[in-house]
Amino acid sequence: MKKIGFFDTKPYDRIWFDKLKDKYGFEFKYFESKLNGDTAMMCNGLDGVVAFVNDVIDERTIDVLSGFGIKILALRCAGYNNVDFKAAFGKLHVVRVPAYSPHAVAEHAMALILTLNRKTHRAYMRTRDHNFSINGLTGFDMYGKTVGIIGTGKIGRVFADICKGFGMNVIAYDPFPAKDSGIEYVELEELFRMSDIISLHAPLTKETYHIINKDAIGIMKDGVYLVNTSRGALVDSEALLNAIRDGKVGGACLDVYEEESELFFEDYSNVVIKDDTLARLISMPNVIVTSHQAFLTDEALRNIAETTLENLKEFFDGKGLTNEVCYQCAKYGKCEKKENERCF
Ligand code: NAI
Repeated sequence: MKKIGFFDTKPYDRIWFDKLKDKYGFEFKYFESKLNGDTAMMCNGLDGVVAFVNDVIDERTIDVLSGFGIKILALRCAGYNNVDFKAAFGKLHVVRVPAYSPHAVAEHAMALILTLNRKTHRAYMRTRDHNFSINGLTGFDMYGKTVGIIGTGKIGRVFADICKGFGMNVIAYDPFPAKDSGIEYVELEELFRMSDIISLHAPLTKETYHIINKDAIGIMKDGVYLVNTSRGALVDSEALLNAIRDGKVGGACLDVYEEESELFFEDYSNVVIKDDTLARLISMPNVIVTSHQAFLTDEALRNIAETTLENLKEFFDGKGLTNEVCYQCAKYGKCEKKENERCF
């Protein structure tokens, strides 16, 4: 029976893997800690490893895993910016879950915007305290406003449809526009200039790192809303904080944060957090932070568990790896697969 080690696990994802355990016949070992060069030492005796978004899969981690004879790492997420693919190539096959529910993330993005705009989080707190005043809760009609979407892949396109349902004007920027999507594509600068709301749905790459920075914010409309459910480092958090303080940015919805790996998914309610930028952002009345939970629906969790275990089964059955990523796939979107339909 193959032994699989899961890192950074929480009760809400374990239940879905446990439900499928008998079907796949693997033995599971759950670790609460994140995977990194130190915790990889716990993998001796395992046949495969499952990692998540904030695990550190750098050269050291890869060398430790491959030293234990482990040849398969299954990411139970779509993004893979936390993997050193150059170091992994030839040693560790990396598979991922390319899509589990674009609806979950797109719907969460809209939920955040509606909350920020109509201040339902504040109204909820007030009425619980029998405070029925509506002073300070004024929002704006979403109808007729322009939303700029950066990245129109699976999530960005679902989000575009949701926005169209609200009667919004949808414009988008993507270096690889979706054909026949009916989406109006514009240059990035134009998107910055025209949008009332900007929502990020692109992966973290060299090109998208700090795509929202001081200069970009400078050309945006006064009072623009920024929404990030993609990866934290697309936004220069210091620049965002300054722009919110100056009133240039009217509000921000952040499900991801560039320094999230040490904080998100954990309970620090009894601790003084040392990240002043995040603490100040959270303290702003027009900023809503959720801790990387946009994916968190039953449907997405079930799909993540199924695809992850199917990815592992393909590996152990000696089959081609449908969802493998290597440095070539990651950079160019495809690679010269070997005869056995694996990257190496
Ligand atoms: P996808 O791969 O289907 O689409 C990404 C799109 O971004 C593609 O159309 C691509 O051409 C575009 N893109 C690439 N470089 C770009 C650039 N420089 N500027 C603008 N667009 C660019 O990915 P999907 O499934 O739509 O996911 C998008 C991102 O959402 C993921 O990369 C991941 O980081 C994030 N995500 C966040 C989750 C959460 O819980 N908050 C859950 C799942 C994904």
